[in-house]
Amino acid sequence: MEIADKMRAQLDIKEHVERDRFVSRIGVFLATVGSAVGLGNIWKFPALTGSNGGGAFLLVYVASTLLIGLPVMISEHMIGRTYRANAVRSMRQATTGRTPWWLVGAAGVLSAFLILAFYTEVAGWVFTNVLKAFSGGLLSTDPAVTSQAFGSMVTDPVMSLAAQWVVFAVITAIIMMGVSKGIERATKRLLPVLFFLLVVVCIRGLTLPGAAAGLRFLFKPDLDALTWAAVLTAMGLAFFKLSVGMGTMITYGSYFPEDQNIPATAVRVMLSDLFISMLAGVAIFPTVFTYGFAPDAGPSLLFITMPAVFASMPFGQVFMVIFFFLTAIASIGAMISILEVPVALLQEERHYTRAKATLIIMGLLFVAGATAALSSSVLADVTVFGKSFFDLYDFTSSNVLLPLGGLFISIFVGWVWGKENTVAALTNDGALANGKLVSVFFFITRYISPVLIAVILLQGLGLF
Ligand code: PHE
Repeated sequence: MEIADKMRAQLDIKEHVERDRFVSRIGVFLATVGSAVGLGNIWKFPALTGSNGGGAFLLVYVASTLLIGLPVMISEHMIGRTYRANAVRSMRQATTGRTPWWLVGAAGVLSAFLILAFYTEVAGWVFTNVLKAFSGGLLSTDPAVTSQAFGSMVTDPVMSLAAQWVVFAVITAIIMMGVSKGIERATKRLLPVLFFLLVVVCIRGLTLPGAAAGLRFLFKPDLDALTWAAVLTAMGLAFFKLSVGMGTMITYGSYFPEDQNIPATAVRVMLSDLFISMLAGVAIFPTVFTYGFAPDAGPSLLFITMPAVFASMPFGQVFMVIFFFLTAIASIGAMISILEVPVALLQEERHYTRAKATLIIMGLLFVAGATAALSSSVLADVTVFGKSFFDLYDFTSSNVLLPLGGLFISIFVGWVWGKENTVAALTNDGALANGKLVSVFFFITRYISPVLIAVILLQGLGLF
């Protein structure tokens, strides 16, 4: 009896080992870009750059992306593809279970919940704006008008919840369809269109009278004004943007084909992501300075300034509908990649079906999400450590958990997993002639990124 049970369990495991994979190499790239590009580029990057003084913040963000975010992404892809399992199990197998490295994966699951709780609400604002754009009421270059529209949206508890629930329904449906079908298909077609539209909006931004002031703000660093807290925020943004530090890229790496060139893929994803953030910045800041918006408006920045760009261009309303629609699509690619972390975990560790795993997670999210959705209305007076739930989830994930995850992943690869494994994994067992590059990567991962992350984290949190 016992033996039969054991065999059944083993068979069960075998079934799960034959995991879903991305079907094509271009599909891998697009799905990974689909995870990286999202509200982080279009909403968070301009908001944080604006409220942290512009150029200097941008500089730290770009440096963190290159020296910290990119190496962590390569490490995650490598671990995922080597062990072909969810983040927790991959980390456990990498160390044959001896030391609690799997906690890195577990912390990632917590990050996934915290991020989704507020991210789904912002996505809800984007969805709402698609509808509002149809009616044309938003089209105005007057800060008072667009700010008022944003304010009335976020302070309405029913609207806030309803918008978030629509987002929940959409992502639940997509993730239940599975990896290769759902994720690849959704991302493949629409990202290039978003890119094109951003270029159009940038051109409009650059021909506005405030273009010079906007670009100066964005690109001229004033290093004296930079605080450690801002440096930490910039590094946290780099993690958030590249979807690293929480196991998303381990999970995606686990779906990569054997012959995927990991460093090349990661570099391309990083460059695309950075480029799209820049486009969003160049679209927004000239508008801010032309029409007298406040650059440090924070989370409302995208929603109050974008309508002004469209109001000042021909066919603005049509463009605005398309813009918010595509932003919604981009946010979906990112959200399903976050959800994939806990879903893959439940599927593989608890042997739940994909549908059951998804529904359980969505149930938990329903509760956590509501606290974020209501934090500008019913829960406006409730604060924890002086922050609303929305801000608390955002801060804890981006400025604490993701950097910690990145720190431990770097230490793990640099000091535990070691160079031999790394070289084998990143050269595809010698098939790729990228040995020099891999050595540089290993050096950065072993000596540079962990030190940078640790110092910035301690200084930024005021612990050192
Ligand atoms: N990178 C995504 C964005 O910019 C957000 C994200 C964070 C996705 C963490 C996955 C993991 O919108």
